[in-house]
Amino acid sequence: MDILKIEGKHHLKGKIAISGAKNAALPALAATILCGGNFNITNIPNLNDISTFLQLLKELGAETDDTGMPQNNLVINTGKLNGYEANYELVRTMRASILVLGPLMSRLGKARISLPGGCAIGARPINFHLKGLELMGAKLHLKEGYVEAKSARLKGAEIYFDTVTVTGTENLMMAAVCAKGKTILKNAAREPEVVFLGEILLQMGAKIKGLGTSTIEIEGIKELKPVNIKIIPDRVETGTYIMAVGACGGELIIENTQPMHLQAVFSKLREMGLTIEEHNNSILVRKKGSLQSVDVKTMPYPGFPTDLQAQLMVLLTVSNGLGVINETIFENRFMHVAELLRMGADIKVEGNRAVVKGVKELTGAPVMATDLRASACLVLAGLAAKGKTSISRIYHLDRGYEQMEKKLSVAGAKITREKTRQHF
Ligand code: EPU
Repeated sequence: MDILKIEGKHHLKGKIAISGAKNAALPALAATILCGGNFNITNIPNLNDISTFLQLLKELGAETDDTGMPQNNLVINTGKLNGYEANYELVRTMRASILVLGPLMSRLGKARISLPGGCAIGARPINFHLKGLELMGAKLHLKEGYVEAKSARLKGAEIYFDTVTVTGTENLMMAAVCAKGKTILKNAAREPEVVFLGEILLQMGAKIKGLGTSTIEIEGIKELKPVNIKIIPDRVETGTYIMAVGACGGELIIENTQPMHLQAVFSKLREMGLTIEEHNNSILVRKKGSLQSVDVKTMPYPGFPTDLQAQLMVLLTVSNGLGVINETIFENRFMHVAELLRMGADIKVEGNRAVVKGVKELTGAPVMATDLRASACLVLAGLAAKGKTSISRIYHLDRGYEQMEKKLSVAGAKITREKTRQHF
């Protein structure tokens, strides 16, 4: 198993290029199920979650050419689609496997998907995905931990989400594009990844209005066509590297990114004292002096993203004053706190609130990653800390960050990946 070793307190200087967004790439891959023909995908991040999704598509009968993956290119053709099941092993490894549900129902009128169960950050049910499909005429049965869905051609419906759900909105958009009649999704997610999926579907021929707003209207059509897709830059990766400068100081140019997608994050980080200059597709970030604490509440887009909460917490641990984080999206997304405490942080958790009192400095320690964003948080903590930090279970990190240690090393961080025989 790999571990990361970090020697902290080295300033960053140079350039980091951002990869394609995992959470935009996964629904884009799912959309290839909607029709046969070659989809040429570029800027696809070379990540474990993408390989897992490709394996799932292959099991469904897709033909894939992933020889270009090291150059971030991929070709998929689902012309010979013949499977309709996402099995327990795959869904357990990656919850986003449920994104095949909507497109399978659209294309084949049947799907058998393992229910995901809970995960490290919360219970994460999929009841809104299922309720939406039922309203569109699907018959659902729960059998042996699997949901079995069937229908003739789905029909349009008016669907209200009790809670904003990203993959729920994406699944039902893909279910609706070829349904009979009009579907209206209310309280829909407005995340850039949802808009991106909508734009792919539009290019494929779908009729969609209201992307980027909380009401999305979709007029079903009979047939879609394959398209070329370029995955948008990863806003969470971008935010993570900006915060890396906050953690250990220096000046970075972050390239191939989309500053518009991070306005809430910039606003908090500027309040804390970071200098952030926005250009067309790049950002310059600079830290001078110490940071001031702020209060943060995670919210659906355009609010502060839950996927950057753990990383921001690291900055609060070494800022002046007291900062309160209110996590409103997931009920158990503070697993990183126990590890930060081992590095000398002063944090008190009460329910979904974490009260973080800035300390003079963190100290390096052996720590363990518990989920993807918690892993990134521990990397930032290692960069900020005095001395050496080793992070185990970094397979979580490899699910969502492309070559993180290489990108950071080139920018001056002291970070290496090592193999260990020890099992943590
Ligand atoms: N929820 C329900 N019922 C549902 C669906 C969601 O109660 O049917 C609840 C969830 O339990 C949660 C809230 O609604 O409390 C929001 O969850 P959402 O459905 O939006 O999350 P998701 O679609 O499963 C995506 C990202 C996550 C990101 C969240 C929130 C993908 C593949 N995953 O998850 O990304 O944290 O939206 O923005 O897009 C990550 O990349 O590390 C990650 C976890």
